[in-house]
Amino acid sequence: MKKIVILISGRGSNMQALLAANLPCTIAAVISNRADAQGLQVAQKLGIATAVLEHKQFATRELFDAELAKTIEVYRPDFVVLAGFMRILSAGFVQRFYGKLINIHPSLLPAYAGMHTHQRALDDGVKIHGCTVHFVSAALDHGPIIIQAAIPVLQDDSAVTLSQRLLAEEHRVYAQAVRWLCLEQVTLNAQNKVDFCFTKQIGHALFSPGLE
Ligand code: GAR
Repeated sequence: MKKIVILISGRGSNMQALLAANLPCTIAAVISNRADAQGLQVAQKLGIATAVLEHKQFATRELFDAELAKTIEVYRPDFVVLAGFMRILSAGFVQRFYGKLINIHPSLLPAYAGMHTHQRALDDGVKIHGCTVHFVSAALDHGPIIIQAAIPVLQDDSAVTLSQRLLAEEHRVYAQAVRWLCLEQVTLNAQNKVDFCFTKQIGHALFSPGLE
């Protein structure tokens, strides 16, 4: 059985969705860079090991990342799953865990890397928004894509309503992606492309607004 470690910084709803998904893996630990991350209590209540490494206590990003890597490696995970972990990781850290490091981002990458993705999508007037699960590479919110979910942007959407509707889909695609990885149904090949050992294909388009 594969082992994963989940990294969070706050609410932890994606973490909670992973914990509830009955995944074919052991969730060895939840680690946060903030002691007040709400998700920590949820994990503790479920009897999962937790650790806190306050980034503010480290003089540089590299020092924090080195300690974070040490903390993670205690658990010898097959995958390190970033679930709302809001720290930029140094190139050295990404290199050390390359191929094992997975992230979820609330946009259809490569559009809207970085922060405030929902508001930026609304400001641009895009009609389809979404989220992306990807292997982490050194460039921020970038790397080989495993799965994306797209949702329509509705006429009256605010950043709040859009983010709420998207979050429900984030929970679904993240659990699916981690399940595939743990079952080795999805792998990263030597050309940095994601290989799928199945061919689930969708033939229809998503129209937003819908066609008359
Ligand atoms: C999620 O929407 C996740 O996609 C986003 O932070 C939120 C965390 O919510 N991650 C990023 O923006 C990473 N660049 P959660 O703590 O409830 O899972």
